[in-house]
Amino acid sequence: MPVTAVVGAQWGDEGKGKIVDLLAQQVDVVCRFGGGSNAGHTIVNEFGFFKLHSLPSGAFNPNTINVIGTGTVVDFDSLASEIHEVVKAGATHPKLVISDRAHVIMPYHKTLDRLKDESLGKRRIGTTGQGIGPAYVDKVDRTGIQAGELEDVRALEEKLRFILVEKNGTAQHYSGSTRFNLRESLESVARWHEAFGLFIQDTIPILGSAVATGSRILLEGQLGIMRDLDWGTYPFVTSSTTFAAGAGSGAGLPPRLIKDVVAVVKAYTSAVGTGPVPTELFGPEGDKLREKGIEYGTTTGRPRRVGWLDGVALQYAAAVGGFTRVAVTKLDVLDGIDPVKIATAYRIRDRTVESFPHPSKLEGAEPIYEELPGWTESTARAESWDELPSNAQRYLERIAELANAPISMIGVGQARKETILISERETVAATA
Ligand code: IMP
Repeated sequence: MPVTAVVGAQWGDEGKGKIVDLLAQQVDVVCRFGGGSNAGHTIVNEFGFFKLHSLPSGAFNPNTINVIGTGTVVDFDSLASEIHEVVKAGATHPKLVISDRAHVIMPYHKTLDRLKDESLGKRRIGTTGQGIGPAYVDKVDRTGIQAGELEDVRALEEKLRFILVEKNGTAQHYSGSTRFNLRESLESVARWHEAFGLFIQDTIPILGSAVATGSRILLEGQLGIMRDLDWGTYPFVTSSTTFAAGAGSGAGLPPRLIKDVVAVVKAYTSAVGTGPVPTELFGPEGDKLREKGIEYGTTTGRPRRVGWLDGVALQYAAAVGGFTRVAVTKLDVLDGIDPVKIATAYRIRDRTVESFPHPSKLEGAEPIYEELPGWTESTARAESWDELPSNAQRYLERIAELANAPISMIGVGQARKETILISERETVAATA
């Protein structure tokens, strides 16, 4: 059974949660392969409306094993409150496995994340403040704490004594008054071990046996390629690999097994945080799109920056990410907008640039748009490709061309069921 990876093809918030929730109805294992509680996956299903940050989006299928993979950084408090919400809404307690090699987000990571980003002033990244960057820094610096270490509080105490000397020095650099308390860290560790100790396991045998028995496995990405640590708009990126290349190592599966890469593409652009977003719309045009799309950050509540679809960035994401199919989300948000626009080049210092440049060159890049006719009809009730207005079909075909892969799902509303599934026969064969 080929392994499927679901990844974001833009700046994050493309609607991966909805797509994974939908696909998870038919899979045996969902594994989050990177990132942490900075993710904000909105899910609307028969249990209600949820914002998942750490919990894999397979949480609502009682038969699915939800793995929090080795490539992630785990916020145990956030995880506990999400599980509480899911169970309170009537779903069964998700089957959960947390990799013993996943890194732990400690209280000092969150504080340092906020202090550092604030200190950057105009150059700030606008992080989610969830401690993601500092936790990954410690991982690379080999001073991080893995989930498998939580059970030995005594060994951790010794390690933390050493770590906190350094962390207090760093905190003092940013704010003289911040001091981290060893007791507070140890209390957190003990609480997390008590609540999650049983779920912290070696994931290799679990995924290995799923592969051996032909189980269906879905690897859930976080954020989008434009926020990837290596390939995104550095330094305005997150601290992990967001696309399928990171899925193999983050989950602990041989990359050759990942044969199906679903790119989630929002029908327009949205981003939170700072850094270049060439197609961003300002003023009433942007406000209208933001309100229609209800574009407010799931994790931070910040109003998202919004704009037209960026075809230059999408082609670049496709070249890096190698998609096999595309799930377009929020098509209905463009209903009634005429014309619709897609950037196909940028003007940078009097030159026309058609391929995505080095991020440092994006300052002042002006998008060059192609215009496509919009549609006045509502797509919200459409249940098949044929029920979509022909101009919406044309727009989708153009997305498929830019993403270099056929479209297999189209979101026309928030709920799981408001998704058009395109059979292989009907697939928009842009590259066939
Ligand atoms: P961090 O991942 O919190 O370090 O933030 C790094 C960048 O990624 C910032 O621009 C954030 O706004 C952005 N970011 C992080 N998580 C998300 C998300 O779930 N959706 C959209 N943007 C995000």
